[in-house]
Amino acid sequence: MILRRVEELRTLARGWKREGVVGLVPTMGALHAGHLSLVRAAKAGADRVIVTIFVNPRQFNSPADLEKYPRTEAADAALLAPLGVDAIFIPAPEEVYPPGFATEVTVQGVALPLEGALRPGHFAGVATVVTKLFGMTQADRAWFGEKDWQQLQVIRRMVADLNLPVEVLGVPTLRDPDGLAMSSRNARLSPEARAAAPALYAWMQRMAAGETGAEAGLLAAGFERVEYLAFHDAETLGPPRPGRPRRLLAAAWIGGVRLIDNIAA
Ligand code: PAF
Repeated sequence: MILRRVEELRTLARGWKREGVVGLVPTMGALHAGHLSLVRAAKAGADRVIVTIFVNPRQFNSPADLEKYPRTEAADAALLAPLGVDAIFIPAPEEVYPPGFATEVTVQGVALPLEGALRPGHFAGVATVVTKLFGMTQADRAWFGEKDWQQLQVIRRMVADLNLPVEVLGVPTLRDPDGLAMSSRNARLSPEARAAAPALYAWMQRMAAGETGAEAGLLAAGFERVEYLAFHDAETLGPPRPGRPRRLLAAAWIGGVRLIDNIAA
């Protein structure tokens, strides 16, 4: 069932919540196997599952990037059909941000480095829309991909800080057989760039094993630029600290496409 109005969604979700656990998988569409693994996890962990498809204008850094983002509603609905989701919520931008909308959720700390520094306003856009989606769906549990590791930590921080009654669950990154993390952006890679792109994950694994020279190796493999490639505290995204879990996070450009990835390290 496709819903487009917040009121319809709220009415349905209120009834479902009385009967059992309501699960949410928020997406921006252009669905691939990685999203479907979130939906499968949600189906296993909730009685009712709502998938939202909303290309959130507030988390894009430029109008051109927002414009370029693929909108594939019919294909997305076809991919979701066999999975038995209970509702697909596809609101128009004015439904989510009606005239007069004046509230923003801003997370400090974990949202400041890496993507936060390179994409000003991005996480405020994510935190605001995710808070709204939690409110609209009244979800008890929500599933997010570990592919966007920093986003997952930002959402966890926000949920804890605001006492939001939602359990946030992370789902491991799905990879193509050659190691490239699945992403809607991979479709924009030329055949040459696609062939070279797995070097990112390969070098991250080598770096996690103690090898040096990853940045030079990536440039030699055909990447144009490495924006960051470093170990961080897995939860705070600050500098790694002894005795605490670490995460190796990367953002790099190849063939004019920005790829991000992360692994436990
Ligand atoms: O990860 C995404 O696709 C988006 O950032 C999200 C969580 C759906 C919010 O717009």
